[in-house]
Amino acid sequence: MPRIAYVNGVYERASEAAVSIEDRGYQFADAVYEVWSVFDGRLADLAGHLNRLERSLSELQIAMPMPRTSLLVVLNEVVRRNRIREGLIYLQISRGVAPRDHVFPVDVRPSIVITARPVDREAAARKAAQGIKAISAPDIRWGRCDIKTVGLLPNVLAKQVAKEQGAGEVIFVDAEGFVTEGGSTNVYIVVDGVIKTRSLTANILAGVTRLNLLPLIAESGIELREESFTLAEAKAASEVFITAATSLVMPIIAIDDHKIGDGKPGPIACALREVYIERARASAGV
Ligand code: PDD
Repeated sequence: MPRIAYVNGVYERASEAAVSIEDRGYQFADAVYEVWSVFDGRLADLAGHLNRLERSLSELQIAMPMPRTSLLVVLNEVVRRNRIREGLIYLQISRGVAPRDHVFPVDVRPSIVITARPVDREAAARKAAQGIKAISAPDIRWGRCDIKTVGLLPNVLAKQVAKEQGAGEVIFVDAEGFVTEGGSTNVYIVVDGVIKTRSLTANILAGVTRLNLLPLIAESGIELREESFTLAEAKAASEVFITAATSLVMPIIAIDDHKIGDGKPGPIACALREVYIERARASAGV
């Protein structure tokens, strides 16, 4: 079955879908994106991603190309046309198409592209049961990592190095030695039974998985502190884990070849993964 993409009002074969060479997303990374996981054919953490999308657009002064309710219809239609039960949906909105000039063009309509793909949940569960390795790298990104833009070159380069070193994620470290976030994830550590994750005020993306995991941590009775921690603290932690729509909750078992705890996925990360998936599945589509 061919994959179907939605491009500026048209559903077409993804292999044939195209945008203009003068799209500002292509030329300037003048675009934002969102990724939802799909459970049972429904979008997980729906409202959180829509809220963040609207915020990213407004920070860049790009208009929402259609009302939320219409966007929702299109997102669900892309899921349906691709027959996705378990998967991911990707949405990108750029400022639009205009002759190349750095300043904002006048009177252009934003471009919108939506694609979807299936995810093998069993393979993902096996991966989570093993945990993944990470490497560390200096965070060389700009000062507006709170905006979910498609300008991801530092992330791309660092994740490529991670891959070449047999790792599945990069953990960014700022100039003061504090962990910021992952290449495409938020990062948490467990120290003396307390979970720490960097505060949203400190130039990281407000992960929607993070947003919806924090109340589950509170319910579990585990103490959570939104405070910075160093790379050294992370390496000495009993557990490290990451979250994102793509990896959900994923244990990290080594950083820079230094084993975390006993080198196996930690009990807190594994329990949080279970409860997060259960809740996300139950509330998907809402
Ligand atoms: N990335 N931090 C960064 C830099 C990210 O790129 C992401 C998500 C997150 C986690 O956000 P969320 O929980 O809302 O998925 C944190 C997406 C999945 C990606 O680029 O594929």
